[in-house]
Amino acid sequence: MLTLMQPNPSDASTPQTQDDRDLLHYEGRLARPVKAKLPELERGDRLRHVIFSGQFTVELLEELGGVADAIRQLSKHRSGQDFLINLLHHKRAMLYFTQPSTRTFLSFMAACQILGITCNEVRDPQTSSETKGETRFDSIRMFSSYFDLIVMRSPIARLAESCAYLMNDLERSGNRSVPIVNAGSGADQHPTQALLDIYTLQRTFSFSGPNDSSISSRFDDLRKQPGCEHLTKGLANKTYAFCGDIGRGRTVRSLALLLANYANVRLVFIAPPHPTLVMRDDLRDRLAARDVEVYEFDSLEQELDGKPVVEQVDALYMTRVQREHDTSDDADQYATIDFSQYCLTPEIVTRMKSYAPILHPFPRDQHFGEIPQEIDNDPRAMYFRQARNGMWVRAALLAHIFDVDGHIMRYFHQELG
Ligand code: NCD
Repeated sequence: MLTLMQPNPSDASTPQTQDDRDLLHYEGRLARPVKAKLPELERGDRLRHVIFSGQFTVELLEELGGVADAIRQLSKHRSGQDFLINLLHHKRAMLYFTQPSTRTFLSFMAACQILGITCNEVRDPQTSSETKGETRFDSIRMFSSYFDLIVMRSPIARLAESCAYLMNDLERSGNRSVPIVNAGSGADQHPTQALLDIYTLQRTFSFSGPNDSSISSRFDDLRKQPGCEHLTKGLANKTYAFCGDIGRGRTVRSLALLLANYANVRLVFIAPPHPTLVMRDDLRDRLAARDVEVYEFDSLEQELDGKPVVEQVDALYMTRVQREHDTSDDADQYATIDFSQYCLTPEIVTRMKSYAPILHPFPRDQHFGEIPQEIDNDPRAMYFRQARNGMWVRAALLAHIFDVDGHIMRYFHQELG
């Protein structure tokens, strides 16, 4: 059935089914550079479909972070909750998740609930008419008949993108069409995860905290520490490391491409020395085209600027090894790799910079042990906050798509500003 799992449908074998032919129909549009695709994913000054992390400019990320902060604050009070829940109660969303998901699914659902959007879900295509031979595009078109938004996760790379083009074609021919949000597409992209990762970094690197006073802030204190004199607020001027399954991590791909938007960043990719797990050429080429300083290491202990990289990073993004995608060849070759090199221990964390957040898109793998539970109480362990941030910033994204973000900001400044 999944003959088109390759990133580029033009590599696919001869199309067998209407599903295959549907995707091939969009082959020409799918093959264009991301930049050429952006205008048709927008309407006026806002995103219509959310397919690539490349759609988020630094300016839009700042804006969405501000709206997410406002929603977070308003949600602390009953009057704010009532205001938010009435904003979009006339809208309905379909969560079409045919690949396993806990956080992305639930945080989209919670985000919809915050804004009053009613949700429904299809998680198992066995419960839909796809088992009766219905094509995916027919299913999507049916969802668009009943709902005002489709959030979708699929094992098929570029299916969400193709659905966005389907919606645009329907719109052009005078039919009903709704926004598509990509909640993870194959090994390809996971733009809203990158959005919540950036939001988490924005909050971390604002260095504001409950202990700040008018005479002393956490940031000023940090800058007095040896080696931190040049620390700046914000995401620019930082070294970010990604560790684990770089090759198959769609969250890594999406976030790395967003971090490339910030000035003077260095990106370090730490992966086991195996062709499946190291960075893929397309990401390497895209980062090179953006002139980003990139390092590819095979250990957290490899040296950067004369010190182990784990001691040098401003943020560390851990990932699990996605064994469910292994081929039999992959598994055989793993025998020679020391995977413990890609797992944190409390001792390693102690050597990290005191402010450097540890991120993880989750789920973490209890068997692999890339982040053991002993680390969870360390102030650098940011992954549970990161997951909660996903709810706030996904609500901000939905508010942006449905054009109620301005309303939220006005109410916020009037009530709490
Ligand atoms: C990730 C995913 O599905 O791509 N999880 C997530 O959405 N938070 C990462 C993973 O599965 O390892």
